[in-house]
Parts: sequence; C-alpha cells; structure tokens
Amino acid sequence: DGTGDGVGADSPVVVVANRLPVDQVTGADGEPRWQRSPGGLVTALEPFVAGRGGAWVGWSGSAGEAPEPFESGGMSLIPVALTDDEVDRYYEGMSNASLWPLYHDVVEKPEYHRNWWDTYVQVNKRFAQRAAEVAAENAIVWVHDYQLQLVPALLRQQRPDLTIGFFLHIPFPPYELFTQLPWRSAIVEGLLGADLVGFQRPAAAQNFVQLARRLHDLPARGQVVEYDGRTVAARAFPISIDVAAFDELARSPEVLARAKEIREELGSPSTIILGVDRLDYTKGIGVRLEAFEELLEDGAVEAPDTVLVQVATPSRERVEHYVHMRETIEQQVGHINGVFGSIAGPAVHYFNQSMPREELAALYRAADVMLVTPYRDGMNLVAKEYVAARGDLGGALVLSEFAGAAAELKQAFLVNPHDIAGVKSQLLRALRMEPAEGAKRMRAMRRHLFKNDLDHWASSFFEALRSQASGQPTGRAA
Ligand code: ADP
Ligand code: F6P
Repeated sequence: DGTGDGVGADSPVVVVANRLPVDQVTGADGEPRWQRSPGGLVTALEPFVAGRGGAWVGWSGSAGEAPEPFESGGMSLIPVALTDDEVDRYYEGMSNASLWPLYHDVVEKPEYHRNWWDTYVQVNKRFAQRAAEVAAENAIVWVHDYQLQLVPALLRQQRPDLTIGFFLHIPFPPYELFTQLPWRSAIVEGLLGADLVGFQRPAAAQNFVQLARRLHDLPARGQVVEYDGRTVAARAFPISIDVAAFDELARSPEVLARAKEIREELGSPSTIILGVDRLDYTKGIGVRLEAFEELLEDGAVEAPDTVLVQVATPSRERVEHYVHMRETIEQQVGHINGVFGSIAGPAVHYFNQSMPREELAALYRAADVMLVTPYRDGMNLVAKEYVAARGDLGGALVLSEFAGAAAELKQAFLVNPHDIAGVKSQLLRALRMEPAEGAKRMRAMRRHLFKNDLDHWASSFFEALRSQASGQPTGRAA
C-alpha cells in the first residue's frame, strides 16, 4: 500500500499540513527523538485529529529521509521527506520569506525568487501525492496553511472522488498586496481545487472571492465562486483552542502551586507583565519592550517591583529577518536591564525557549497583565489561552487590534501597535484597573470562548464542507 505496514492506509479523514504534530530532534545523547511542534496550528488540530483516529501527512521538521509512517496519540502520522535544498527554498524561502511577510501586510519586505517557487511547486506535488495514497475512497481531506496552497488542485486532479477542504491559518491579503506575487494566478487556482476555503476573518474570505473574480474573471455569488463546473465556497471560521481543557489545566493544584512559586522566584514583584510568542517579527515584541521602557523612564512603573517576563520560542532561525529581529530584541532587553535592572533583579526576564504547557499555564495564571501586540496575526491563540487560564477572573489582556482574536475578545484593552503612546496608556489602564472591572471583562471574554471553542471551529468547518460537497454537480456526498 506504500504507507509502511499499512499505517494510515485508507483513512476516511486525512489532515495535510507542513508539519507533523511532532518534530524530530536530536537529543543531547545524539539520538533522534520526537517532541511537540511549535505554533498555533498544532495546538488547534492535534486534539481534533486524535479524537477521530485520522491520518496526518506532514514534514518531520528535519531534512533527509522520511521516517516510516507510525501511530502516535491516536493518529496515523505519515512523514513526508524534504531535502536540505527543499527546506531552504520551499520552507525558509517561498513559505517564510515570500508568502509569510506578504500575507502579514509586508511587515518585512517579501523576496521573490523563481527557484524558490519551482521548489514550492515540487514539494506541494509530493504532499498531494502522499495524501492521494492514504485517503480512502470518498474520504475528506483537510489541507492547511500557506505552505500548501497548491495541494487542493493537485489532489483534485488525481482524486476527483475526494471532498477537499482548505484552511488558511494566517491573514489573506487584499487584492492590492496579493497581486505583487509573480505566481498569483497559480496560487488562486491551487486554492480553487478545494470545495471549501476557510479563513480566520470574513474580510480574508472576501479578499479571496474578489481575487477569483478580478484575476480569473470567475462568476461569484456572495461567498461562492463558480469554477470548472463546480462551486467553491469561501468563508470565515475563526480558530480556537480546547478551552475547557486549558481551563482545567490552569486550575489544577500543581499549576496553581507553580504560579505562586514563579512569583516568588521572580522576587515577589507586585506586578508581573507577560509576553509569550514565537520569536517572529509579526508579533510586535519590540513594541511592547519599547512601551515598557518608556513607562520605566517616565517613572509610571518601577522595576523590579514591576517586571516584564517575555518567553519567545525560537522559530525559523535560518531565515534572515528572524536572525536580525532576534539580535534587535536581545539588544533591547540588554539595554533595558542595563539601565533599569538592579542587584535585586532585572526589569525584563527574557527566555528564548520553548516551555511545557503546564509552565505556560502557570505563567498565565501568575501574570497580572498579558501583552499581545502583533502588527498582524491570523488569530493569536496565546490571547485565547490566557483568557481560558483565568478561571479566577483575575488578570488583564492588552491585545492588538490587528490580531484576529480582537474581533472576538472585545473586552480586552485593544491597542494599535504602531501607536506607542496608545500602547503605553492602555497598558497603564490595564495595570491600574479595579479588580471588579477586570473580573467583568474576563467573564465576558470567557463566556465567548467557552461557546466558540475548538470543537465548534472544527465541527462548523466540517459541516460546511460536507454540505458544500454534497451540493456539487458531480454528486459527491461525503
Ligand atoms: P503562531 O501560530 O503564529 O505561533 P499562536 O499564538 O496562534 O501563534 O499560537 C502559538 C502557540 O504556541 C500557542 O499554543 C502557544 O501556547 C504556543 N507557544 C508560544 N510560545 C511558546 C513557548 N515559549 N513554549 C511553548 N509553547 C509556546
Ligand atoms: O499558522 C502559522 C504557522 O506557520 C503554522 O503553520 C505553524 O503552526 C506555526 O506558524 C509555526 O511555524 P513553523 O512551522 O514555521 O515553525
């Protein structure tokens, strides 16, 4: 069957994503081992696939031969191999130095190289091929994110029996930006291979429909485009987390004890401000450091009575923009601590590390104010995790208007990360807020999240996908 011991063969539900939910890394003993992959996509999808015993086609995170398919956590994991050159051109190049900055409002300048594109096409073909091999007849295949935008059309060519959904986890830019892309038509055609294309925000779905209309001259009614004798629907499905599970984790005695311990280990400050991100230039980590530094300068806050804890997971470390931003952030942290730290402790506690979920939950629980200030973010699950962790109704969330989460977490202290004065004043408001007002805001945000959790996201996508596929003229009824 070509899948290795039959693992994952004939799967009725197949998820296709650039990364598997686990990453193969080399341990201190030189032996390879698996660890959880970074990022929001894995956080959201893993419980969903595990619960359905589905197959997951993805890259192992290291270059070279792919390991054999294996079972893990109730899923069949089907590794796809990438060579060093492919990692360089498809992942670091086309995905993360062309598409990522373009889709995030050109926060950094995207680069376009023809050999990156050629490799992107080649790798998308490989993912499509692998998915075609493991999907059962009439299976549902759910393709994810900007690294794999050609897979829906490639898969449909090989397997017209399949129901194909696509979900984009990051923003989708307006016509004026998207059309910079030399391969814009190929990408739109790739996505049009799906029955349903899902986005985080309604505006992104509208951008896509407009592109199909203006670039390809396709007829569209509302959110539905007519293409190649079929219809393709584009809609928003704001992603979420397993809210109840995170709430439970954050109220466990171990996590509560650890939260207390964290405060003590930090020198028992009266106020803890927290940032948790992948170390990415879209996340606006520099902005919050700047705002904090100015508040220290102004004397509005004092260190180490007030401290900022910034956890920044290493990410895409060989991509140039990431190398530069890391240097800048680390210089900024060094500068603030040089000026405002004391023998009693630093003003900023910076960790360039990935941390276990229990430790993150304890940090959320310990933090008086959570700072989430991206310039642009598809959703931002960290903001949702913080709210889910605050079953005590304590804490305050400062959140960028440019994160998808801002459309839902309306009781946060919303900020424009381009406006430092605004960030400072909202941060101060959050720091000085009365506990009763904080509890009111937190309760409202938690109510929203409990209704709009991960299950809600996945099941509304699936329901829409099924109904879209059953309405197709080919009569596919998934
Ligand atoms: P993105 O998908 O861009 O990384 P999100 O905020 O949507 O951003 O998701 C990030 C996910 O990664 C969250 O589930 C968060 O808990 C996790 N995460 C972020 N920083 C760390 C860290 N330092 N250690 C472990 N997990 C982290
Ligand atoms: O949605 C953003 C995203 O690229 C996801 O695909 C992934 O969850 C996360 O960021 C981590 O990025 P990477 O896989 O490049 O480490």
